Amino acid sequence: MITYRQANAFDLPVFVSLDKELFPYSPWSASQYKEEFSAPTRYFVVAIDEQQNIIGYAGVFAPGAAEADVLTIGVVPTERGKGIARQLMAMITDWASQQGSTAMMLEVKVDNVEAIGLYESLGYSKLNVRKDYFGAGLDAVVMRLELP
Ligand SMILES: CC(C)(COP(=O)(O)OP(=O)(O)OC[C@H]1O[C@@H](n2cnc3c(N)ncnc32)[C@H](O)[C@@H]1OP(=O)(O)O)[C@@H](O)C(=O)NCCC(=O)NCCS
Repeated sequence: MITYRQANAFDLPVFVSLDKELFPYSPWSASQYKEEFSAPTRYFVVAIDEQQNIIGYAGVFAPGAAEADVLTIGVVPTERGKGIARQLMAMITDWASQQGSTAMMLEVKVDNVEAIGLYESLGYSKLNVRKDYFGAGLDAVVMRLELP
């Protein structure tokens, strides 16, 4: 059974190592994660398997009554297609709603069909393209979901 909970400082090394695997073009360092974890406007969650391994994670920045930003979301390759990302997105979106967020925003690499498929299935619309957002030649699509 897969369980979900809020992330804590002990999870930090796993975030850093999974970032290197899932986001080789823009991984966060340990010090970046440390800073993010301690900010009250940020919320990180993890999915855990029966062996207590972290198999997915997500994070959001929600500064009160304004737009929230999806900071990260990833699921290990062997556990994809099971609805884990959908559940992680629901958790961070609920939290952002509780903070008074008016919308969810995110940037995703233009060729990331899995993630764009996920966001479109959740009702996100494509707004525009940011050239070189993830580095030279790595453009991002900006996507947005209005919150009720
Ligand atoms: C994107 C990612 C998080 C999806 O995780 P996942 O747990 O496999 O996704 P889910 O099983 O919850 O899928 C939810 C929905 O996303 C969409 N989706 C998932 N995989 C997809 C694929 N390969 N192609 C198209 N759409 C896909 C579908 O709409 C799916 O709903 P459905 O199963 O009812 O069809 C995962 O592929 C991943 O970690 N990728 C690498 C990291 C990354 O790129 N993160 C996004 C950064 S912006």
